[in-house]
Amino acid sequence: MRIPNIELRNMTILVTGATGFIGANLVMKLLRSASPVNIVGIDNLNEYYDVSIKEYRLKQIETLAAKHSESIWTFIKGNIADKSLIEQIFKGYQPAIVVNLAAQAGVRYSITNPDIYIETNIIGFYNILEACRHSYDNDEPGVKHLVYASSSSVYGSNKKIPYSTDDKVDNPVSLYAATKKSNELLAHAYSKLYNIPSTGLRFFTVYGPAGRPDMAYFGFTNKLREGKTIQIFNYGKCKRDFTYIDDIVEGVMRVMQCAPEKENGEDGLPLPPYRVYNIGNNQPENLLDFVDILQQELVRAKVLPADYDFESHKELAPMQPGDVPITYADTTPLERDFGFKPSTSLRTGLGKFAEWYKEYYQV
Ligand SMILES: NC(=O)c1ccc[n+]([C@@H]2O[C@H](COP(=O)([O-])OP(=O)(O)OC[C@H]3O[C@@H](n4cnc5c(N)ncnc54)[C@H](O)[C@@H]3O)[C@@H](O)[C@H]2O)c1
Repeated sequence: MRIPNIELRNMTILVTGATGFIGANLVMKLLRSASPVNIVGIDNLNEYYDVSIKEYRLKQIETLAAKHSESIWTFIKGNIADKSLIEQIFKGYQPAIVVNLAAQAGVRYSITNPDIYIETNIIGFYNILEACRHSYDNDEPGVKHLVYASSSSVYGSNKKIPYSTDDKVDNPVSLYAATKKSNELLAHAYSKLYNIPSTGLRFFTVYGPAGRPDMAYFGFTNKLREGKTIQIFNYGKCKRDFTYIDDIVEGVMRVMQCAPEKENGEDGLPLPPYRVYNIGNNQPENLLDFVDILQQELVRAKVLPADYDFESHKELAPMQPGDVPITYADTTPLERDFGFKPSTSLRTGLGKFAEWYKEYYQV
């Protein structure tokens, strides 16, 4: 087990992508369990998916922040690709911990909209790294830990499962995956050159209440409700390590408190204080089983009627470009270092999603 070397209480924490699915849940968990804390959130509230869900999450954060008046919550609407804005934020707030979750996500969207992936995931991330680097100028204590989102998609179509962080990940099959792998490379170089403690987290298919409408479980639910047909790719033969949002946030919080130690190598030069972990459920589920559980939970939560004819609303379709047949996380290092691994079952997690969906859309 690694011993925490950062106390989150009384820290200034910058969270990028703060109104995003993972970002908003992280901010709320910090308010609940690390108050008093000073959180600065940045997000450009872009329209990649329904902005009202981001606004809803922002409102949830504000309500919670009002209850935790001992903490400070500051929201900045802005773009991480705007270098001068990022410089200004780092100078003004001097965050000790930075959690970079802002990104253009999605594998399929990167085929039709490549520019935005370079802008946010590459230039935006580079701006964060540069700001971390200059946070130590004039002997300032600077950033103690940079935690950033990578993705299971870096494993491409690797055949060896479960996916281990020791595996070679040089064959991305989408631009999205290539940008995430690039983030790890850039972070490594900056950790080595400027001694920035950094940890990359490869998240595996995250789901839950107020999640992302562009993801399958959410999109399927919308379509079924509208009486449309859902397409199940790779003829349902895909397997995914679905990871419940609370497990992801728990993992991120534990990681945030353990910055990689600064050490010197045999040559007397600093070794990069750099780590990468998988955070996944370590239990891949077949897509058809997943759809089956989703259906049952939607009926149980009364989003859909008990006599809904699911079979006539399902179509098996071939694999899509950029997709991979399986994702499966080896979480041994996560368990070894943090005594934790995700454990929420698909039924519990999808049940919570279905209940949230019913209330949110007032079904
Ligand atoms: N959800 C998953 O299954 C999953 C899996 C693997 C990796 N990830 C990664 O985790 C991170 C968070 O994912 P999420 O599911 O919360 O996605 P999300 O899209 O809900 O959140 C990302 C947030 O970043 C914001 N954003 C995008 N570009 C920005 C920019 N240029 N400047 C400022 N804000 C910007 C968006 O408005 C959004 O609110 C992302 O880096 C994503 O790539 C997510």
